[in-house]
Amino acid sequence: MYLVILGAPGAGKGTQVEGLKDKLGLVHIATGDLLREAVRERTLLGQRAEKFITQGRLVPDDIVLELLEDKIGKEKDGFILDGFPRNLFQGRKLDEILSRENRKLDLVLNLDVKESVIIERLGTRLVCSSCDRTYNQENSAASGNTCPVCGASFFQRDDDKPEIIKERLKTYLEHTRPLINYYRKKGILHNVGGAQSPVEITREILNFLNKKENT
Ligand code: AP5
Ligand code: MG
Repeated sequence: MYLVILGAPGAGKGTQVEGLKDKLGLVHIATGDLLREAVRERTLLGQRAEKFITQGRLVPDDIVLELLEDKIGKEKDGFILDGFPRNLFQGRKLDEILSRENRKLDLVLNLDVKESVIIERLGTRLVCSSCDRTYNQENSAASGNTCPVCGASFFQRDDDKPEIIKERLKTYLEHTRPLINYYRKKGILHNVGGAQSPVEITREILNFLNKKENT
């Protein structure tokens, strides 16, 4: 199965994929994580990408595709893409890459969350410095100072500052939201309300997938 999870910054894409990937046996490919890793490792691509990420703008398509194309090609047993595609160009490019090997997207999940909720979530997000798992200061799982799974310390993402969150939301509305219509027209879009708890949302998605499989 080839899935995309769409949604505004902070909608809960990464959180949902953490809950879904093992149950569905799919690999999680997150362009944001790949880009941040390239920045940390000071690779050439990372150095070119850094200023766009810290400003809340989209990293140029050629950089993202260079990081991603090989990975998509290799994962033949299914994946969930998180953070890609991010604009119509990337959406068409993804179709093209998959169609080269007679593959196609099965489903696009769109997490729908109010802007006020997003701003609150991003302002209180904590990320593990080792495994990239995401928590929230409001969440009991993150009540200590270290990641409950791997024990490493938390950090706050540079782009989770209020003025950069605003910029990321603007970028989302301008470039990424048009993908909703793109996939709706293809008949593979499924909207998911993102206001409930993470576990409830995961359950709803799994129920939907079960029903879909049985029809
Ligand atoms: P990326 O890392 O993809 O960031 P994003 O899209 O802005 O999304 P986030 O990771 O911030 O949010 P999320 O939806 O994963 O939410 P999360 O689960 O963490 O991209 C970063 C940057 O890289 C971009 O700005 C761009 O510069 C660049 N980039 C990446 N891909 C690119 C591409 N394809 N092309 C060009 N540039 C690209 O949840 C957020 C918080 O909410 C957490 O604290 C979580 O614990 C909490 N939470 C989640 N769900 C719930 C819930 N249901 N209830 C309560 N709290 C919740
Ligand atoms: Mg994420």
